Amino acid sequence: MSIMDVFTKTSKKVEHAIVGDDPGFDILHTLKQEHEEVQDLLKKLVEGESTAARKATLKKIKAALVPHSRAEEKLVYDAILTKDKQSKVDGTEGYIEHSLADKMLGNLGKMTNAMSPEFTATAKVLKELIAHHIQEEESNVWADVRKHFSVRHRQEMNRKFLAAKKKIKVN
Ligand SMILES: [Fe+2]
Ligand SMILES: [Fe+2]
Repeated sequence: MSIMDVFTKTSKKVEHAIVGDDPGFDILHTLKQEHEEVQDLLKKLVEGESTAARKATLKKIKAALVPHSRAEEKLVYDAILTKDKQSKVDGTEGYIEHSLADKMLGNLGKMTNAMSPEFTATAKVLKELIAHHIQEEESNVWADVRKHFSVRHRQEMNRKFLAAKKKIKVN
């Protein structure tokens, strides 16, 4: 066996160890990463010093937040809504907060002057709403998810979540 054969065989084994049997991340791991990303962007939006900069950041927020929210509703909220009374409240609260965030994103998109006091105020309220929403999601909703779904199930949810996100169109 040549050195190259040994190398190819070994790298295939390594690849299989990394990819082949990897069940992937727990959905909560993915959600955590996305929550941090969107909170950084919201901070950037509020601190933006020109209309162009704020508009560019707003576009990034929409691209990150809209698919996250729609896939989260489908894969996380809908999964817990039927489980028990507490999960029903937590999931419904999440849906309401998502629709408020959608509305505010729509309002920001319509404002031509992104340096106006109105834009700044709306961006601040959206940032506060999302911070509150994420805090409750990570404590209440995630407790429901952990209670009702095993790690294996949550890895499956993660695969479906990532696939669902790709299908969502952002206007
Ligand atoms: Fe979320
Ligand atoms: Fe959410």
